[in-house]
Amino acid sequence: MNNLININELNINDIMSSGSKNNISFRISENEYVGLYGNSGSGKSTIALCILGLLTKELKNGTVYINNKDIIKFTSQEQAKWNQSVAWVPQHIRILNSSLKENILFFNHAPTKVSKFENIMSQDWMNDIRELLLNYQDSHISEKSLSGGQIQRIGIARALCRCPKLLILDEFTSALDKSREMMLINYLSQLKGSLTILIVTHRPRPLEICDKLVHIV
Ligand SMILES: Nc1ncnc2c1ncn2[C@@H]1O[C@H](COP(=O)(O)OP(=O)(O)OP(=O)(O)O)[C@@H](O)[C@H]1O
Ligand SMILES: [Mg+2]
Repeated sequence: MNNLININELNINDIMSSGSKNNISFRISENEYVGLYGNSGSGKSTIALCILGLLTKELKNGTVYINNKDIIKFTSQEQAKWNQSVAWVPQHIRILNSSLKENILFFNHAPTKVSKFENIMSQDWMNDIRELLLNYQDSHISEKSLSGGQIQRIGIARALCRCPKLLILDEFTSALDKSREMMLINYLSQLKGSLTILIVTHRPRPLEICDKLVHIV
């Protein structure tokens, strides 16, 4: 398998000045599912930000290689290309003051995106959101009108509609009931072979679909 990401000797304390003194090294191969777990504040979300290229100035010690190139040496074109291939579901998802459909499609109505949207809306883990879409059509939605679990799944659907090569899921089931969590995990396991996933979680079930686990201490 091709090596997609190579993290070498990252120290969260150097990056955030308040993290644990750790020395993190691991690799992610193409189409691999990798799970990151560990204590709150250990640096899991910071690692995700480093992979996205959002902390290049702070990366003084340790390296992050993407496709065998040091991310701090990316040109703006290389960073833009990387941005296109990654989708990130952060721990806190923002809802746009727009319709449910636009919150997921993000105003990209290319035929491939619309067909992906329809496919995702037909999944069992989106059953209640499908009803919301039918009932409210073009009405604007807001964070106040949605449950935490609905906001979380809108964020996941939004990321999946980008058809990413790498999907980063940060605590993506923390607000879900066990049944919907299982439905979503089953769905992700069916996608194996078509994308790479980095799962950050405190919950045990999402880790079960991972090929490799990395404990962040
Ligand atoms: N924006 C920030 N500015 C300064 N320090 C930060 C910032 N975000 C996080 N930190 C610090 O960096 C360290 C790592 O935080 P991070 O969010 O990566 O942890 P985590 O493992 O994702 O935790 P959790 O499981 O609670 O989400 C923590 O000590 C935190 O206080
Ligand atoms: Mg976190």
